[in-house]
Amino acid sequence: MPDVLLLSGSPSATSRSVAILRATAESLERAGLSTEIVSVRDFPAEDLIFGRWDSPAFTAAKQSLAAAAGVVVSTPIYKASYTAALKGFLDILPQHALRGKVVLPLATGGTLAHLLAIDYALKPVLSVLGATEIHQGVYSTDEQVRVTTEGLLTLHDELRARHDAAVDQFAAAVQARLASRPE
Ligand SMILES: Cc1cc2nc3c(=O)[nH]c(=O)nc-3n(C[C@H](O)[C@H](O)[C@H](O)COP(=O)(O)O)c2cc1C
Repeated sequence: MPDVLLLSGSPSATSRSVAILRATAESLERAGLSTEIVSVRDFPAEDLIFGRWDSPAFTAAKQSLAAAAGVVVSTPIYKASYTAALKGFLDILPQHALRGKVVLPLATGGTLAHLLAIDYALKPVLSVLGATEIHQGVYSTDEQVRVTTEGLLTLHDELRARHDAAVDQFAAAVQARLASRPE
């Protein structure tokens, strides 16, 4: 079971937010944390749309989430908010699925216009799911993120610095949470 579950909310097969999520997982692994990436693309669309919380398709992801001390949620901005597919997944989770976990939100948008979507859209839902330690999060715009056809990621220097600082802070908080768990 992972120390950190990383959740992708992008329905897109070629995705900037997924590339950032993978880079985040690699940084966390280098910090000594085990990780698992789960994508909304892993689940049947009908289960997400119809809120089939008891679908067996969600069982493994729910177990990994329950075991994790940290959760990273990465989403593209769609219409000034996070994606409907991500909402579908968050909707099927048990009421306090994020209680006691450290949470780091990440978002990518086409423009800076929806910079605050993490705060006004995503954080309230994470909070309703029981999260009390939600880190500030990292918002990036498409022009700051380049992904080659081979999947190689290049981040603008300023974004790279913000992202690395956020991941370092998150990794330390997860390590502390793991250390405080009973044997
Ligand atoms: C349906 C749709 C709606 C979008 N709405 C917004 C928006 O409201 N604000 C914004 O900044 N970008 C918007 N975008 C741009 C995406 O957020 C942006 O390109 C993002 O990096 C895509 O992430 P992905 O490659 O991981 O899917 C939209 C893109 C799509 C496909």
